[in-house]
Amino acid sequence: MSLHRPRRLRTTAAMRGLVAETRMDPAQLVLPMFVADGIDATRPISSMPGVVNHTLESLRVAAREAVDAGVGGLMLFGVPRPEDKDATGSCGQQPDGILNRALRLLAEDLGDTTVLMADTCLDEFTDHGHCGVLDDAGRVDNDATLEHYRELALAQARAGAHVVAPSGMMDGQVAAIREALDAEGFTDVAVLAYTAKYASAFYGPFREAVGSSLDGDRRTYQQDPANRTESVRELLADLDEGADMVMVKPAMSYLDIVREVADRSDRPVAAYQISGEYAMICAAAERGWIDREAALDEAVLSIVRAGASIVLTYAAVEIAHRLRLRA
Ligand code: PBG
Repeated sequence: MSLHRPRRLRTTAAMRGLVAETRMDPAQLVLPMFVADGIDATRPISSMPGVVNHTLESLRVAAREAVDAGVGGLMLFGVPRPEDKDATGSCGQQPDGILNRALRLLAEDLGDTTVLMADTCLDEFTDHGHCGVLDDAGRVDNDATLEHYRELALAQARAGAHVVAPSGMMDGQVAAIREALDAEGFTDVAVLAYTAKYASAFYGPFREAVGSSLDGDRRTYQQDPANRTESVRELLADLDEGADMVMVKPAMSYLDIVREVADRSDRPVAAYQISGEYAMICAAAERGWIDREAALDEAVLSIVRAGASIVLTYAAVEIAHRLRLRA
């Protein structure tokens, strides 16, 4: 019996390139971006080096750069002025709300050269910071929230979003949004469902990014990190409700869920390398404990290997540049 020598296929970069099982392309990367109302210069997010709250003008420049780098899509989050927040997050729905203004501008600038996505959720806009509206007892009211999601999705579609992305983990959110969009003739606007979204400690830096008002947690609507089969149930529901793409979030501590969902979905699977995942790599790199670029590339590669065909990452532009240099 001959000795097995798998190292033969690792001898040179060319050989490794030939046999690589996972390949990445800038077109599969989505850049999440934050646009803030009431600021006249970009505002850095201290826990996310290199990520900022954009003004409308800086957003346009950065969006163009991302598209020129080959990034496949942009996911927009709106950060209203604190005084514009209210109990129902109404400024998300207003045509002149910051997110809708940004969508309109980018739709004009970029047309169909990118895929313009919008976060369809209330938490950035509510004064209590929850992803839905509250009932008299202070609990997140699922079905009342759906009515707001419909309006939010419609406002985003009218503003030019190609994709709306409900991230609030309300039951029935995909069906509600699909129905609202179709009723107004937006049959071509796609729904990227946050299908398996866990109540994670790794969202911390995002809460800084959007100036979250949340006091407490999201455990009554986001999934328990202990559960896997629950994600299958969420997936089947979202597919049944008409989701065009499905997402797992966070990515890194949930690669088993990415694989599970990828194996069962007949639609594209996205995964979100969230703020805390990005921040950890940046922080360790700043201390000289890790190679930032190599770690980011490896982390995103592992998400693709796990089964995601789309990855949302704050490092989308730099990874796209590196992929192009290597190509
Ligand atoms: C909710 C939303 C969150 C993120 C994306 N959409 C925050 C949350 O669920 O608490 C987190 C993204 C990240 O951490 O990078 N609208």
